[in-house]
This record gives sequence, C-alpha cells and structure tokens, in this order.
Amino acid sequence: MRILLLTHAFNSLTQRLGAELSQRGHEISIEFDIADSVTDEAVALFRPHLIVAPYLRRTIPESVWSRHVCLIVHPGVVGDRGPSALDWAIQEGASEWGVTVLQAEAEMDAGPVWASASFPMPLTKKSSVYRNEVTQAATTAVLQAVQRFESGEFLPQALANLTDVLGRLRPLMKQPDRSLDWQRDDSATVLRKIRAADGFPGVADSLFEQPCHLFDAWPEGVLRGAPGAVIARRETALLRATVDGAVWIGHVKRPDGIKLPATLAFEAEAAALPQAPMHSWWRSDAATWQDIAYEEDGAVGFLHFECYNGAMSTPQCARLQAALAWAKLRPVRVLVLMGGGDFWCNGIHLNVIEAASLSGGSAADESWRNINAMNDLTLELLTTENQITVAALGGNTGAGGCFLARAADQVWARAAVMLNPHYKNMGNLYGSEYWTYSLPRRLGEDAAKAIMRDRQPLTAQRALEIGFSDACVPGDVQKFRHEVAQRTAQLADHVDWNERITAKRETRARDEAAKPLATYREEELAQMRRNFYGFDPSYHVARHHFVRKSPASWTPRHLARHRELGWVVP
Ligand code: COA
Repeated sequence: MRILLLTHAFNSLTQRLGAELSQRGHEISIEFDIADSVTDEAVALFRPHLIVAPYLRRTIPESVWSRHVCLIVHPGVVGDRGPSALDWAIQEGASEWGVTVLQAEAEMDAGPVWASASFPMPLTKKSSVYRNEVTQAATTAVLQAVQRFESGEFLPQALANLTDVLGRLRPLMKQPDRSLDWQRDDSATVLRKIRAADGFPGVADSLFEQPCHLFDAWPEGVLRGAPGAVIARRETALLRATVDGAVWIGHVKRPDGIKLPATLAFEAEAAALPQAPMHSWWRSDAATWQDIAYEEDGAVGFLHFECYNGAMSTPQCARLQAALAWAKLRPVRVLVLMGGGDFWCNGIHLNVIEAASLSGGSAADESWRNINAMNDLTLELLTTENQITVAALGGNTGAGGCFLARAADQVWARAAVMLNPHYKNMGNLYGSEYWTYSLPRRLGEDAAKAIMRDRQPLTAQRALEIGFSDACVPGDVQKFRHEVAQRTAQLADHVDWNERITAKRETRARDEAAKPLATYREEELAQMRRNFYGFDPSYHVARHHFVRKSPASWTPRHLARHRELGWVVP
C-alpha cells in the first residue's frame, strides 16, 4: 500500500513507523503537518491508500479524513482523550498505560478504535516513556491496524461499543497543575511532577529567585538541606533540598531562553555554591546524579554515560574521555560503552553551542571546541589496545554519536533503537569523529557515500543488514543490558580473545601506516572549519532553528517522495 505519514515532525516514533512499514513492503512518503492546504496537496500528489498520523498537534482537515482512512496514534489507553495523555498518567502515578490507534473524525481522539497496546508504566520522565514504551506499543498497534485495514475485513469499533474503555477525556495540563511546593512536596512528588513535564514544557518554578522551567530531575539519597534551598552543584546539575531529602536539577530554561544545563543557565549563581563532587568513576551505591558511572563484572568493564538528550558538550566529552582512559587501565578484557537510558549519544551539544553566541561568545568557536573534544574522545576509543570494545546502543543514536559508537570494535544495538548515521540534516554539516575512516572501512566507499547522502534513519535490524552494526539484540532496556552482560562475559572468556586482540592491533597498525588517523581528522576538520567559519551560514541557521524548535515551513524533499522531481501520480 501507499501510506502517507502525516506528522508534526520526523521524530523517532515517525522514523520507526516509517522504517517498519517500509520493511513490510509498503511505499511510504512523509508530509509535515504545516497547513491544511499543504496536507490536501500531499494527499492529491501521493494518492495514499492509507494515512497514518504518528505525531500531530492539530486536527486533520475534514477534506482529508472524510475521504481517506486516517489512523491517529494516541499515547493513551482506550478511551483516553486530550493533549496531555502521558502528563496525567505519569503525574497521577498510573501503573499501566497504553497506546490507541483510532480513526480521525470530527471530534479529536474520539473516532473508532483500530488497535491498541498496553505496557507497565515505568517510573521515569515523559520523553523517556515516549521514546521507549510508547514507541514500542505504537509500533505494535500501528502494524496491527495496518494489517487489519489491508485485510478489508476488520470493522473498527466505536468507543461506545467497547468494553475495555479505561480512559476518559482529560484537559490540557496547565502549569498550575504542575506547580511545586518546596515546603510541602516530598522528593517523590517533586520528581514525579518534573518527570511528567519532561522534555516539554517543563515545570514553571524559580531558582535563585528568578523564574525558570525545570527539567531532568534525579533523586539524591544522602545530602540534605532546608526545604527549597539550592544547596550544592555537581558538574552541570544543581541540588535542591525538599522536605525529606533533595533532588538534582539537570536542565533549566529561563524565560525567552533555551534549555540548558542548570549550572550554565545560572552560571554566576551556581559558581557561588559548594561543590558536591563524585570522587571516583565507580558507580555510587547511594541514589544520586552521576552522569558518568563505571562498574565491573569479572573481566568486563561497563561505562555508563547519561547525557540529557544524548547531547555532549565540550566538558562532557573531556570528562568521558578521562573516564575511558581510566577504564582502559583496569584489568578487564572487554570494555562496554553503555550510553544512557534514552539515548546513546546525539553528538555535539547544539544548545550549549547556541548559548555561546547568546552570551556574547562565538558559536563557531564553541562548535570547534566541541567537535575537537568529540574527536579526542573518539580517538581514545579507536586506540584502545588492550581490550575489545563494545558500543551497546540501548537508546537512539544520531549524527556524531553513531560514529563515536562505530569507533568501537563492536556495535550492538537494541532492536527497538533508531540510528541516524549522517550529519547533513544539520545545515549540510560534513561531520567528523573519524567517520571517513570508520564508515568506508565497514561498508565500502559507495555505501558510505549513500548513507551520508540519503540521510535516512536505520532500524537496528537494517543497520545490521547493511553492516553498520554487528548485532541486533531484542528486548526492552533491562533485557538488553542483561543480554549485553552475558554476551560480553562470553567475549572476555573466549579462547580466541588473545588472537582477536592481536589481530586488532595489527589491523590498526596497518591502517595507520596506510593513512594516519591524524590525516583523516585533519581532512574532516578542514571541511568542518568551512561549516563553522565559512561564508555559507547553513549550519548556524539550521542549529538556531533546531534549538529554538522553529516550526517547519516545508517537508524536506528526501522525506516527501511525492514531491520529488519526476514523481508521477499513481
Ligand atoms: N544537541 C542538543 N540537543 C539535542 C541534540 C544535540 N546534538 N540532539 C537532540 N537534541 C535534543 C532535541 O532538541 C530535543 O530536545 P527537547 O528535549 O527540548 O525536546 C531532544 O534532544 C530530543 O530530540 P528529538 O529530535 O525529539 O529526538 P528524536 O529521537 O526524535 O530524534 C535525532 C533524534 C538524533 C534524529 C535528532 O534529535 C537530531 O537530528 N539531533 C541532532 C543531531 C546532530 O545534528 N548533532 C550534531 C552533529 S554531531
């Protein structure tokens, strides 16, 4: 079937659905929901058999839903309606939640149900539930709904005829519903409210008596203070006391500003606070915010790095490099780079770079520092001589993050993960992280060029098929971690371990003699220097719009196939 994906943005859920449907032989084209007339035009050009709307912020025009079946993905249980489905579910502590695929009609979220799927609600932030549980359930439900539609035999059921209606119409959650009372709310309540609002819109509150929105909250198990007082800082996060403990606030957004690490958004105020440093890379036993944490199991070392949104600023890259260099000295045979729960890594920190220009500095200079720090980190990994390295991608990975991963000997991705191993979407960025070394070496010159040019997301399965990665591991994040631990233990114990290490050193030496890594880096950075400092401002413009979340005014041509030159109306 020809299936049009109508969506507010090409987010990871849309990418996943597009890829899964393509893999099942459907012809997919994408249109951003920009204006009713644009949607009408897309439908006229593509003539879809079916329209799927994974992520919409407006209703579909009647001209479209009255003539075509439009399947809406709603992140709520059957019967739930309204724009704040996950927010209410998390804030009110729902233990079970779900996704419903329903047909668009005049009344929002009230059409007949084509399919649904449920999941146990984890204790985590909204964006994380969306990227993990919701995406998985939505994939299951959409694939079922599409199959049912294709069969021509399924009759979707009106809500009134269903017996398993668990939800109801809920209003938009507003800031007063989210408000924090630092003199009354315990840590669990503060965490729940901030998590229900993360990554958007955050909880409107104040820090240092200045208004801001709070994001990225973590529990603290030991440190205490007067309720409401900001009592310490650690790297990028601030610690604020509650009535029964304290919580770390990792990110904040000030009025008219952008979302930033808390200690950068309140730089002067944070500098005056006492530090509460972690004294080692070892994972702490007590609950706390530890963005980089190392643990060992026998001959395997695991390095976790939890960077908000997968973005890695210059200091974060430097600290992770230091942690990796330290881990390389441990008596282990396999080193696993675990990344974080939601993302493995999405490359340089575009918000911190943007902030440099807002505070009178230079975004170009900060971009330059950041990409060099990423390269130093990538080089540290590429030149690991005494261990087999594994990048274990439990969460999505994009741009430079993919090539940091590819610097490991093995890349294993969880089956539900999306990879975007290309840079050009960010204003034609050339990219670095030694990709010109690692990618053609794996895929060959032509395939490497195609990946960069086509800018398509890859499912973990597809990444394995084309040779970008080495394993596709099923299961949720917990099962993935368990499986990675088992497989790496086998790798460390393998009779071939010595041979593999020898072969790896020999290959690296041969490659270095043929063309030094420093030359790859110089060549890539020559291009990046043009992106950052050259006449063409595309990267700076694209970054500005990405960070500011400017609404799209057109759908990129590589996604809207029906707008390609030479497209013939079927
Ligand atoms: N720097 C700063 N923030 C980033 C980021 C980066 N490199 N990559 C993603 N983010 C942020 C987004 O702004 C968004 O912020 P929010 O919490 O305020 O909503 C959040 O991470 C999630 O991103 P989103 O695009 O919604 O996630 P996704 O899973 O749907 O898509 C990507 C993932 C990787 C395709 C997409 O985020 C992307 O293109 N990122 C930019 C990658 C890049 O160009 N890096 C620089 C070159 S190395």
